[in-house]
Parts: sequence; structure tokens; C-alpha cells
Amino acid sequence: MTPSFEIRLAKCGARVEVALDALLAARAGPGELARPARLLAAMRHAALGGGKRLRPFLVVETAAMLGARGARVLRAACAVECVHCYSLVHDDLPAMDDDDLRRGRPTAHKAFDEATAILAGDALLTLAFDIAAAPPTHPDPAIRADFTLGLARASGLGGMAGGQMLDLDAERHEGAFTRKHVELLQAMKTGALLRFSVEAGAILAGASAAERKALNEYGRALGAAFQIADDILDAEGDTVTLGKRAGKDAGRHKATLVGVSGIEGARAIRDEFVARAIRALDMFGDKAGVLAAAARFVAAREF
Ligand code: IPE
Ligand code: IPE
Ligand code: MG
Ligand code: MG
Ligand code: MG
Repeated sequence: MTPSFEIRLAKCGARVEVALDALLAARAGPGELARPARLLAAMRHAALGGGKRLRPFLVVETAAMLGARGARVLRAACAVECVHCYSLVHDDLPAMDDDDLRRGRPTAHKAFDEATAILAGDALLTLAFDIAAAPPTHPDPAIRADFTLGLARASGLGGMAGGQMLDLDAERHEGAFTRKHVELLQAMKTGALLRFSVEAGAILAGASAAERKALNEYGRALGAAFQIADDILDAEGDTVTLGKRAGKDAGRHKATLVGVSGIEGARAIRDEFVARAIRALDMFGDKAGVLAAAARFVAAREF
């Protein structure tokens, strides 16, 4: 991966960190009664000080490619990251993947307790919609509504939460999975929010229907490549580099493309999705260099 891409990703991550820190301040916001210290501490544990911040990066870079930048876009990017951080807190719970390490630190339920982690997830998810609906995110209420609706659909029953249900169902399923089933599960649990991150940039920048269509195709393919890479890293990566426990999926009978197609097969499918993502950017020409690099990063990453 080119150092310039990684520097750009890290710089965006630093801006996201500052913005999330402010959104998770101790002082109660408008319409709130108080911010209980323990819940806030668990939310800050889950949302600050780690992560690649790929979803906010996709929001910011897609919007920038189409001419929209600044504090508003960053707020919208933080809303998406709040949903992601909540999903990680709940994904790690004993009732789900039962993990004790995340982003190189104890998971939220280990650092606090299960009930606090559940509430921290709930409150991060809710905060995301607070940010999405609030006027500082965009002056045009129609654009805020479009963003909020897309975020809801990517996160809920027909998106991430639904995909997490299919993921857990698979653990109890006897026998092999089909590639088609794994691709649907992954498109929902991980792909939906990544695809929406790209769409969010397009919404905020007021993209044309043709631009949105192309970016949707890009986001869908990038999301698929991302989760296949995650499955490969679980099989081949090491816990210290990943900052989360490696080697857990096979033992839990998780439905993964590594399980269906083997490591080499999964790598080939991942690379096909990366190529598809990059092809979808054709209409944007040189302007799409950063998004193309993001698609390559998804496959080449080591954590
Ligand atoms: C991990 O996502 C969970 C999946 C959706 C596979 P990331 O790999 O983006 O996690 P962070 O945000 O960088 O920690
Ligand atoms: C998690 O998938 C997807 C979501 C959090 C929605 P995984 O369970 O594979 O993610 P990791 O490997 O724990 O990060
Ligand atoms: Mg999981
Ligand atoms: Mg997990
Ligand atoms: Mg995983």
C-alpha cells in the first residue's frame, strides 16, 4: 500500500477522533437530562482511541471527490462510525462472538460489565441518529432525511443487524454453506454499512443519480472484499497485529468464504471484488484515485 494512502487515512482518523471526543463530552447536550459517567466512559472506551476509521474515511473521501468537505461531512462520518463502534461492542458480547480483545484493548464488557456494554452499544447507535438528524450535519432537511433513512436501512433488520442474525444462525447450522448464502450474510452484516458510507458521501454532496449508481456498485464490491479480507485475517493473521483474537471463526463454525472456498479461493474472490470496485469508478476518472486506493487497501491490509 502506498504510504500516502495510509497517511491520508491516518489524518482522517485523527480528525474523526477529535470530533467523536467532542460529541462524547461529559456535558449533557440539548434535550438531554444528564450523561451518566459510567455509561459515557464505556461509550468513550468503545469509540475513541483505535480503529482504522475506514467508514468515516469513505464518507469524507467520497464527499470530497464530489466537492463537499468540512465540519458537516465530518459529523456525518462520525454518525456512521458510531453505528460501527456499537456493532463491535455488541458483536463481542458473550452471547455473540464472546471476545475479550478489540482494537488491542479489552472489549467493552470486559473493561466494564455486560449490562454497561449493552447500554453503551444502545447509546452509540442512538447517538448516531441524533447526529444524523441534527441541523449542523446539513442545512437541508431533505438531505438529512435521506442520510438518516439510508443509515437506518444499512444498520437494521435488512442490513447489519439482520446480517448478524444470519451469522449467529450459521453457528448452529449443521453442514456446509453455499457461497451465495455467505455472500448475502456478509453483504448484510458488513457490506451494508460500508456501502452506505460511500452513499452517504454522495448524498451529502448532492450527487447525480448516475454518480450514485456507480458509487453504489463500488461500495457494494468494496464491502464484499472487506469482509472476505477479515475472514482471511482471522485464519492467517496474528492477534497482536490484528488487535483482536485471530483464529476463532473455524472453531465457532462461522460461515466464511475461507470455509466455503479455502484460503486461495477466498483470496481470488476478494481480488475479483476489488477489481469490480475499481472498475465501477471509471466515470470519475483521476478524481477517484483515493477511492481506488481504498479498495486496494481493503484487500492488502494486515489488520
Ligand atoms: C471489524 O471492522 C468488524 C467487521 C465489520 C469485520 P474493522 O476492521 O473496520 O474494525 P476497526 O474499526 O478498524 O477496529
Ligand atoms: C462483525 O463481523 C461484523 C459486525 C460487527 C457487524 P466479525 O465478527 O467477523 O468481526 P470481528 O472479526 O469480530 O471484528
Ligand atoms: Mg461476529
Ligand atoms: Mg466478531
Ligand atoms: Mg471477523
